[in-house]
Amino acid sequence: MFDFKYKTLDDVRADIDALGLDLPLSEDTSVLARGFDVRGERLHFKNSVAIHPMEGFDSEPDGAPSELTRRRYLRFADSDAGLYWFEAVAISNESRSNNRQLWLNEQSADAFKRLIDELHEKTYGAPVICQLTHSGRFSRPENKPAPIIAYHNPVLNRPFNIPADHPVVTDEYLDSLVPQYVKAAKLAEQVGFDGVDIKACHRYLLSELLSAYTRKGRYGGSYENRTRLYRDVIAAVKSEVGIAVGTRLGVHDGIGYPYGFGDDMEDSSKFDPSEALRLISDIHSLGVNLINVTMGTPYYNPHVNRPYCTGGYEPPEHPLVGVARMINGAAILQKAFPDIAFIGTGYTFLRQFSPYLAAGAVGSGMISAAGFGRMAFAYDGFAKDLIAGDMKPNKCCLTCGKCTELMRAFTTTGCPIRDSEVYAPIYKAAMNRK
Ligand SMILES: Cc1cc2nc3c(=O)[nH]c(=O)nc-3n(C[C@H](O)[C@H](O)[C@H](O)COP(=O)(O)O)c2cc1C
Ligand code: SF4
Repeated sequence: MFDFKYKTLDDVRADIDALGLDLPLSEDTSVLARGFDVRGERLHFKNSVAIHPMEGFDSEPDGAPSELTRRRYLRFADSDAGLYWFEAVAISNESRSNNRQLWLNEQSADAFKRLIDELHEKTYGAPVICQLTHSGRFSRPENKPAPIIAYHNPVLNRPFNIPADHPVVTDEYLDSLVPQYVKAAKLAEQVGFDGVDIKACHRYLLSELLSAYTRKGRYGGSYENRTRLYRDVIAAVKSEVGIAVGTRLGVHDGIGYPYGFGDDMEDSSKFDPSEALRLISDIHSLGVNLINVTMGTPYYNPHVNRPYCTGGYEPPEHPLVGVARMINGAAILQKAFPDIAFIGTGYTFLRQFSPYLAAGAVGSGMISAAGFGRMAFAYDGFAKDLIAGDMKPNKCCLTCGKCTELMRAFTTTGCPIRDSEVYAPIYKAAMNRK
């Protein structure tokens, strides 16, 4: 696995050069303190650092946030980020990825409201976005697989033992999801979220549909059909709620044609932005002005999704190649749509050097805000230190993969390394059960 030997920023620069990559690094981290408004929405980033959605799998059985969920978010609030992108929240029980995935419904709404009110108080009003999800092929509401698939895909069927005769979800079922998203979005507005994310990434249902080249009917084949449900949900939600409507969009799956979205037809490791650009133009005309950009899926190619030092397998590329794919890929989109607030992914890998990459990307206009996932799990108060350009190496995420291991063991997750009091016993128990 990768030995993170960088002692100085020059060491990082040397590897970037040796790999022939183009990554912006700047030591002027003060640009990250810059706040900005999202065009067309009542949404203000307090600074240019965002916390990415990170599931904890610690809800109550009815989907309400638990005391542990509350602890996670109040800890995030300490970091002083500019925007909090709340984790995946299921729109229905059958679409939950785990029986402890958060689920927003009439019963759980009050508990969500209490948490969001408290979070707003602690973050002095920094916006909180609710990520609405349907887990699709990764649904496990009773903690055993109950896949809802858009089409058969040998690459993802095999590792999850989905048989060739497993039913493909009908067009009528997909039609019925539009009002379900609207209902969940209205609840999100009621409980105080500042915006909703129509999640289409990491190969959950809406993301899987984007690559449904081989599906028959109204939701498969052509670009119009593959993107239909996503666009219909966005249009319907936009017309029914007053809060911001954004999206976390997986712009490159890295699975390969005809099963991956945004993949170069000759080389699946390369991002082909043509359909992502078209899709972003379409949703922008529906009123979307906030997009969180991501790539890959944790279930098939976590090295693309979250470049790491240690993980389930030896990655086929240097982690900085994965970082560059995300940073430069998002920059293509930001350049094409300067009016949209894009949040980028791919910064955590660089640990104490991540502020310089974030400052380089934000300062040169490659991205509106830098988003952090695992760093937020690991580093209590990280955004303050990041903006000050003073990250403490002994508090940084080590990209060791333990939080992902917990997620893949379908259990409560967090950082067993840096937040060990709570999560080390959970990790130990999960590994003993294996
Ligand atoms: C334990 C864990 C849970 C995650 N949960 C979500 C989620 O709920 N929604 C989402 O879009 N991404 C989720 N992600 C992906 C992160 O948001 C982020 O894209 C990824 O970790 C790469 O960013 P990083 O390098 O800053 O960690 C999760 C990642 C991890 C490790
Ligand atoms: S377990 Fe902690 S240190 Fe390891 S990757 Fe996850 S957040 Fe980072």
